[in-house]
Amino acid sequence: MRKDEILQILQPWNLWQGEPIRGVVRPAYFTRLKQFLRDNQVVTITGPRRSGKSYIMRQVMADLVNHGVPPANILMVNFEDSRFENLDVQSLDQIHETYLEFHAPKGEKYIFLDEVHLVPKWEKWVRRVHELKLAKVVVSGSNTELLSREFGTVLTGRHLDLKVLPLSFSEYMAFNNYVVQSRGNSVLDTVTIKGYLRKYLEHGSFPEVVLSESKKEILLNYFDDILYKDVIRRFKIRKEEGLKALFKYYLSNPSSHVTFTSLAKFLNLSHDSIERFSGYLEQVFAASFVKYFSYKVGEQEKNARKVYAYDTGLCNAVGFRFSDNWGKLAENVVFLELKRRQQNTPQMEIYYWKCDRDKEVDFAVKDGLSVVELIQVCWDVSALKTRERETKNLLKAMAQFDLKEGLIITDDEETELKSGDCFVRFVPLWKWLLREEGVLGPS
Ligand SMILES: Nc1ncnc2c1ncn2[C@@H]1O[C@H](COP(=O)(O)OP(=O)(O)O)[C@@H](O)[C@H]1O
Ligand SMILES: [Mg+2]
Repeated sequence: MRKDEILQILQPWNLWQGEPIRGVVRPAYFTRLKQFLRDNQVVTITGPRRSGKSYIMRQVMADLVNHGVPPANILMVNFEDSRFENLDVQSLDQIHETYLEFHAPKGEKYIFLDEVHLVPKWEKWVRRVHELKLAKVVVSGSNTELLSREFGTVLTGRHLDLKVLPLSFSEYMAFNNYVVQSRGNSVLDTVTIKGYLRKYLEHGSFPEVVLSESKKEILLNYFDDILYKDVIRRFKIRKEEGLKALFKYYLSNPSSHVTFTSLAKFLNLSHDSIERFSGYLEQVFAASFVKYFSYKVGEQEKNARKVYAYDTGLCNAVGFRFSDNWGKLAENVVFLELKRRQQNTPQMEIYYWKCDRDKEVDFAVKDGLSVVELIQVCWDVSALKTRERETKNLLKAMAQFDLKEGLIITDDEETELKSGDCFVRFVPLWKWLLREEGVLGPS
């Protein structure tokens, strides 16, 4: 590649000339990434395609400049740029040297490598730059590979990871310019907030989708990009139709039990293909699986998993009938919020629990060695029977894990039931989400 070509490709992503991007700031990530940069470690940013990783990087780049770092000291390379296809480690050197030659940065330097996993053996290059203290390095990718095999073995213990997900509920409202007003512990205008929650469940929360009118078109494009670019092309899949059917199946059945054996029959694929494809989908943040809680790994594997999407809008875009299934979407949103919580408590694990065929609790949150929280999602508890069933299952699980409190997340219901010295609290989803994010104080 010629030097002027390289410079031309780099230009729009960097701050050497021209305006920085602005967008809406997402404090949870923005602040954390800035904190990470003060540490002497490589930073990785991972998360679903289009969840906003590049944007956050570029906002932090602009912030560095605002705090006195010369624009010439920052290099951003976006490997998703089609002109950068088929690069290798040597090309990384070439890009880096061209940048150094033409911008002659002095003092502390920063290198941001966006969708870096597209370059084979990138981790060796990053390691060298890091060890020689040539620059602070931030890498991003829509693929967990970044964290495991390739990176893990080369840079063990030497990286901080920021996991970016589509917008949380409070970020979603910020993107809609809505500020939650509260007086003491009570929120004003709950009707508006509940209206936003419906839309949040229906359209999901990819930043671009939230800001745009043509939501469905964008989501269908995301679906195709994940399918073709992230999975089929990257993993060289030949059974394209089978993979597509599987991905569609997962998105159309959020918060449902799946077993690889029955899917193999249903989709006419081998068990091995289903397992492999599911692994790929998980790796590129297209689907996530929750296992049955057991102290025995064998038991976990033997039981069905539950599948969740990284965005509920994607489910609706590919044909999930949400009108009579708000409960499934709500459960999926609770799952995603628990994933967000994982950022602060990385050792936390998410399971579901059951004792008999029908007695089930949606989420058993494990922290360290024990289950510390049990959450049931039940959208409509108005029927007495439903209410009794859900409460009974929860109490049963609470007894097993020796917990005095359990939570049932609902659409509207807010109340508390006492049984012996145990409490079951019913909390509306919107309120739980805002509490989780610290927008509302505890009850
Ligand atoms: N903070 C933000 N403010 C405004 N728009 C955003 C923001 N984050 C993402 N977007 C929108 O979403 C799109 C995808 O975000 P991007 O950062 O490119 O995702 P990723 O790098 O995770 O694939 C952007 O092109 C932009 O339209
Ligand atoms: Mg990006």
